[in-house]
Amino acid sequence: MDGLNLEGLPPNQTVAEQRKREKGGQHPFETPEFVSDNRLVLDLTYMLEAPGPGIIRREDVDALIPQVIKAHQMLTKGQGDIYDGEVAMTGWLDLPGRIRKAYLQDIRSRTGELSEQIDAFVSIGIGGSYLGIEATLGALTHGWFNRLPREDRGGAPEIYFLGQNMDPDFFRDTLDMLAGKRIGINVISKSGTTTETAIAFRIIRSLMEKTWGRKADSLILVTTDQERGALRGLADERGYQAFVIPDNIGGRFSVLTDVGLVGLAMARIDIEEFVAGFRHMHAVTRHDDFWENPSLVHAALRHAAWEAGKRVEVVATNSASLYGVCRWMEQLFPESEGHQGHGMWVSPAMYSEKLHANGQMVQEGPRNIMETFLLLQNHDNQIKIPPVDTNQDGLDFLVKRDLDMNFVNQKVIHGPAYAHYRGGVPNMTIEIQRRNAFNLGQLYYMLEKSVAVSGFLLGHNPFVQPGVEAYKHAMFALIGKPGFDQKRRDMEADWARIDPIRV
Ligand code: PA5
Repeated sequence: MDGLNLEGLPPNQTVAEQRKREKGGQHPFETPEFVSDNRLVLDLTYMLEAPGPGIIRREDVDALIPQVIKAHQMLTKGQGDIYDGEVAMTGWLDLPGRIRKAYLQDIRSRTGELSEQIDAFVSIGIGGSYLGIEATLGALTHGWFNRLPREDRGGAPEIYFLGQNMDPDFFRDTLDMLAGKRIGINVISKSGTTTETAIAFRIIRSLMEKTWGRKADSLILVTTDQERGALRGLADERGYQAFVIPDNIGGRFSVLTDVGLVGLAMARIDIEEFVAGFRHMHAVTRHDDFWENPSLVHAALRHAAWEAGKRVEVVATNSASLYGVCRWMEQLFPESEGHQGHGMWVSPAMYSEKLHANGQMVQEGPRNIMETFLLLQNHDNQIKIPPVDTNQDGLDFLVKRDLDMNFVNQKVIHGPAYAHYRGGVPNMTIEIQRRNAFNLGQLYYMLEKSVAVSGFLLGHNPFVQPGVEAYKHAMFALIGKPGFDQKRRDMEADWARIDPIRV
């Protein structure tokens, strides 16, 4: 039997974009036309006056404006609760303006050199040292990137992630994908002590050394703190190529640092365009003119929702490529806001898939939910709905009106937005014009500033995550890490007081 025939379909435009990357093909991201064509829009129509309980009214938002502006001013002046230890964690705020072309060129040439020697690249890290890279690659590359021939990947190696969980089966499966290939890795950890990252690195490194001996050293990149941490010491000792996570930028705010840029450059994504997106949104959100500043509006609307009793934020998209960005938001917001009993639970969702799972709950469950949609306006590809010889699905009307899958996929957001609003779920839509690095950059910066302001509104430091440290310490004690013996004894004493219930 012959294989499936795709003749007659236009070529895949995501692949076409990727192929351009090999030749350094850039979008004209500096032209006013490009910028206006790629404007990020916040549609807040359904945020206000959704039926109660917990109605958000225009006057609630207006009442918040002075606080929001004050929070923004404090943030930009480096005031308030912004410290992690001695360090003010606002290095990301003006970072877009500090990045120079030569620095990006250096990243490109170092990753380019490694890329020539390898078939596959593994990015090892977790949390802020993983999610931003995965989200951006997912947004800007083919859904089956690693299965494409190299020229269709724009010359990039295959790209894998490890260290984001401790599942031995997943790990082993990934090793099978790497077997027989020349690989390079980037181990990313600011602290250098994160267990998941360290274990994954140890295993991969030992396999690489077994295969290539000391030559493996030249295939290992390390992205970590400039001066401190266990990884820094090892990188210096072994001469690994090192990239830096600045001291004053926390993991979840680090996608514009080497943490994100190295992985994106490895995938041949235009990192200059990515920076330009950040820079543009940095300029757009600089001032205190509330309704002209999307970060402030976004922060205020979410805070109004919080005050109205909303406790869950479903972040849903109509683009499989943007699902990773929903997951990035699942970290950015809860890790920054989830302090002292505050913060909304962020639930990432791909619509319409999730509507057939939790749609009932959103429509009729507890009215403590709000929704944020990431609506991709223009997909790379257009897929027509063809005529067939029967109309048993009743869809001939789409064909007659020449409507395509793209049209239907917009309604996958427009439909729930209206229905959920009427059902008492306020929702906002962030319209993203198309899949490009500029748009990702804008979106990330807009949201980073929003969550920073949100932390101030909630009355606590959005740049620390003591709760994450709590789990790390309990885990260290459980696996018997030296230095955590007292913690282990405390836990054992605690268990003696807790009656086990096992059924
Ligand atoms: O946002 C954060 O700071 C965290 O999610 C960290 O990125 C995550 O815990 C990984 O830490 P590290 O980079 O130190 O391994």
